[in-house]
Amino acid sequence: MLVPGLAALGIAACSMPAAAGDTSAGQKLAASGADGVVACATCHGAQGQGMAAAGFPYLAGQGAAYLAEQLHHFASGSRGNAVMAPIAKALSDQQIADVTAYYAQLPAAFDTKTLAGHADPYPTKDAGAWLANRGDWDNDIPACVQCHGPGGVGVGTQFPALAGQSANYLKAQLSAWKEGKRDPGPLDLMGDIAKRMSDAQITAVADYFAGLPDAVQGQATATQGGAK
Ligand code: HEC
Ligand code: HEC
Repeated sequence: MLVPGLAALGIAACSMPAAAGDTSAGQKLAASGADGVVACATCHGAQGQGMAAAGFPYLAGQGAAYLAEQLHHFASGSRGNAVMAPIAKALSDQQIADVTAYYAQLPAAFDTKTLAGHADPYPTKDAGAWLANRGDWDNDIPACVQCHGPGGVGVGTQFPALAGQSANYLKAQLSAWKEGKRDPGPLDLMGDIAKRMSDAQITAVADYFAGLPDAVQGQATATQGGAK
């Protein structure tokens, strides 16, 4: 027997996603685009690895639900971005389901195995490392890894990975929440957290997550040079 409230929730949940994503249709869209839609690969890379130097985030291995949600937010304007808005608006619900299913099953750039061994979670008195792994309880900021996973590799389909994402991109997202320019997301978790962070903390923690895979893979990712 369903409690009426739960039944209503069930209906709401079912009406959200279109049919399950078709990964091969998604791959085609990502690689070649469609009518009025530039190929995602142009900016997000052939393997969905992003382009850190330009601040284009990686999508590979992020949860499909998270990515789809972001595309709906870009389309509605509740997550403001001049580049992604027209692209997201041009996509049908089915195309969003397809392309996010495709990116979700690509191998993630970083996983806990790659990051293991790197893990001295509290290396120095580095402010970014401290905040990421311990939080700042004086200001009610929980440790980022509590939700984003050890090393910031992401958890489930709703908590995106941060490790190796460009520092400029991460900073821009935290600032957007502070300024109310990005949809608050589930339970306003990030809106709340970002508002409690100082600009110095934002810079430190963005640099920390951007730099994580460098130490592990010697990969030239983050471009801290032009960071604002
Ligand atoms: C011209 C470059 C460009 C193209 C083409 C492009 N994107 Fe983006 N995308 C961006 C930028 C820039 C951002 C970061 C926006 C921000 O800062 O909020 C982004 C962000 C995203 C995000 C949010 C990622 C996150 O971690 O929250 C998703 C999802 C996304 N793009 C999907 C797509 C898909 C799917 C396509 C193809 C249909 C596509 N993009 C094509 C530039 C592009
Ligand atoms: C209580 C859980 C929670 C904690 C703690 C948390 N986050 Fe998040 N974070 C989330 C959720 C949920 C999202 C997805 C938001 C959405 O759907 O728009 C997110 C998204 C993000 C994003 C956007 C990623 C992208 O690809 O665009 C950044 C950046 C981020 N968090 C940084 C941080 C930092 C830095 C900390 C630590 C100071 C932190 N988070 C702590 C839950 C959390």
